Amino acid sequence: MRSHKRLSLCLLLVMVCFSHGQEDYAEVAPMEKSEMDSLFSTIRGFVGSWWNGSDLYPDPCGWTPIQGVTCDIFDGLWYVTALNIGPTHDNSLACAQHVEFKPGLFELKHLATLTFYSCFTAKPVTISSLSWSRLSSSLRTLEFRSNPGLTGHVPPAFESLRKLESLVLVENGLSGEIPRNVGNLSRLKRLSLAGNKLNGTVPESVGRLSELLILDLSRNMLSGTLPVGLGSLSSLLKLDLSYNQLSGTLLEQLGGLKNLTLLDLSSNRLSGGLARSLQSMDSLEELVLSNNPIAGELRFMDWEKMGQLVILDLASMGFSGPVPESMSELTRLRFLGLNDNNLSGSLSPKLAALPSLTAFYIHGNNLTGDLTFSGHFYLKMGRRFGAWRNPNLCYSAQRLASTDAPFGVKPCRPY
Ligand SMILES: *[C@@H]1O[C@H](CO)[C@@H](O)[C@H](O)[C@H]1NC(C)=O
Ligand SMILES: *[C@@H]1O[C@H](CO)[C@@H](O)[C@H](O)[C@H]1NC(C)=O
Ligand SMILES: *[C@@H]1O[C@H](CO)[C@@H](O)[C@H](O)[C@H]1NC(C)=O
Ligand SMILES: *[C@@H]1O[C@H](CO)[C@@H](O)[C@H](O)[C@H]1NC(C)=O
Ligand SMILES: *[C@@H]1O[C@H](CO)[C@@H](O)[C@H](O)[C@H]1NC(C)=O
Ligand SMILES: *[C@@H]1O[C@H](CO)[C@@H](O)[C@H](O)[C@H]1NC(C)=O
Repeated sequence: MRSHKRLSLCLLLVMVCFSHGQEDYAEVAPMEKSEMDSLFSTIRGFVGSWWNGSDLYPDPCGWTPIQGVTCDIFDGLWYVTALNIGPTHDNSLACAQHVEFKPGLFELKHLATLTFYSCFTAKPVTISSLSWSRLSSSLRTLEFRSNPGLTGHVPPAFESLRKLESLVLVENGLSGEIPRNVGNLSRLKRLSLAGNKLNGTVPESVGRLSELLILDLSRNMLSGTLPVGLGSLSSLLKLDLSYNQLSGTLLEQLGGLKNLTLLDLSSNRLSGGLARSLQSMDSLEELVLSNNPIAGELRFMDWEKMGQLVILDLASMGFSGPVPESMSELTRLRFLGLNDNNLSGSLSPKLAALPSLTAFYIHGNNLTGDLTFSGHFYLKMGRRFGAWRNPNLCYSAQRLASTDAPFGVKPCRPY
């Protein structure tokens, strides 16, 4: 592989030599000394002061590129456009024990992408809150992923990065509140702060991020209610606020998210029943609301209107009343979780006819009467049909081989 690369590099060199005659390759694409010094000092800050770029990479954007550095030509000069730090490739530069943000980072005039993966892992480091505004006219993507040693707050200085389209701070050790003016980042398409220790509320200003496609604040310690502005993010495709401490009711305004395909609000403290407006989210494929004390009944929703649903997880939500027959019209449904509620009444046999269903959990409820699904259904589903812990439920044993019986359900007594 490597020798193959070297070969094509040589071929390229020959072609350049042919087209440019005797030109020295440093002249083909020169780099300003200040840009090169900034790049080298920045990298030394991350990988350690032992690293000597001028030795190994005299021409970092040309013939001897540095793994993780991408360049482009502006007005005839090379500039760094992307820096990807961390072990993403075999020959990537690994980060040092003591990672440092050098001032040179903020001198890279055309830096559009900056990512750190598994870099800050040892000694705790906070994100420098200094000169981010100097990158405000160029930076479009900023990512810190899997950096457990990255602690402290999300610097409010990030608010000045007005060209930012993707802000991803996932699986780090960040704490404190989400900067209140995060809504100033009006070009954002992806905002993902999942898997940190962020607390406080979801800032109301997110409602101004009108181009947002993905909002993922899951697995933090966020509290308070859902901001009303969420309902105006009409481009949104995915909204994941699961595993926080959010309270209050499901917003009626969420119904305005016509393009949303994923809504995950599971494992919070939301209450006050299902919002009927949810059924106007026409594109929704995954609705996951489990582990919230929502309570109320399922039959007040017109489930047949949510015909795109593939995953519907409503486990552990304190629902009572019957399982509505309209759920049997969700023909794309593959996963139906209704377990650990207080649902009562009998199950419609139509539910067993859902053509795509591969898992159906309704254990831990108070269903009554006879289960009249076919032996073929029980056999096909195995333990992925969960009906145990419904003390007053039994299955019709007529014409059913004992090996096909639903797990944990007793046979009905013969009449
Ligand atoms: C890197 O190595 C070169 C050549 O060995 C040397 O001239 C230069 O001073 C070194 N730079 C640093 C920053 O150590
Ligand atoms: C963000 O927006 C707020 C309110 O619109 C404004 O007061 C503030 O100066 C803005 N911050 C930046 C860094 O642009
Ligand atoms: C968030 O956590 C910090 C400690 O990291 C604490 O000082 C602060 O009071 C908390 N804020 C809220 C709103 O809970
Ligand atoms: C919703 O999706 C459709 C089809 O992809 C697209 O044409 C439309 O612009 C989207 N709406 C918004 C508000 O982004
Ligand atoms: C379960 O539902 C019944 C009515 O179907 C109600 O009487 C009972 O209080 C509910 N139990 C719980 C724990 O919510
Ligand atoms: C289950 O339903 C029966 C009536 O069908 C009722 O008597 C009983 O209290 C219910 N159990 C619970 C835990 O709600």
